[in-house]
Amino acid sequence: MKVALASDHGGVNIRREIASLMDELGIEYQDFGCECEGSVDYPDYALPVAEKVASGEFDRGILICGTGIGMSIAANKVKGIRCALVHDTFSAKATRAHNDTNILTMGERVIGPGLARDIAQIWLTEEFEGGRHATRVGKISEYENK
Ligand code: RB5
Repeated sequence: MKVALASDHGGVNIRREIASLMDELGIEYQDFGCECEGSVDYPDYALPVAEKVASGEFDRGILICGTGIGMSIAANKVKGIRCALVHDTFSAKATRAHNDTNILTMGERVIGPGLARDIAQIWLTEEFEGGRHATRVGKISEYENK
């Protein structure tokens, strides 16, 4: 699995935490910044990462901003992306098992690094259950491809 990772200025610390988690787990990833001193615009990071996942260049994406909200709104505009904003471990598992999400966002101003790490680890390792959930995800893709 290859993961595209990015944050705006509001998510740099959790992005570093997730990078070190993926190093420990032996998960291949590329860090797309930001290398920011001042403030940057989250769509400039969310959209390229989402496009890399949608094109198949990367299997998954993880995006961090202050709230996780802006990154998730932007990523979900890209066709083929199922992005979830997650701040608890139950949802981290459910959104992989039920929604087959391919991008995870979190907000560094909302949760701490320990919880972010647990959420990312669950989300990176949990499998999609398929079955009735595949039917439901398929209905979203069908709508998107109309
Ligand atoms: C930046 O101040 C902040 O708006 C951004 O990190 C994010 O929370 C947007 O949704």
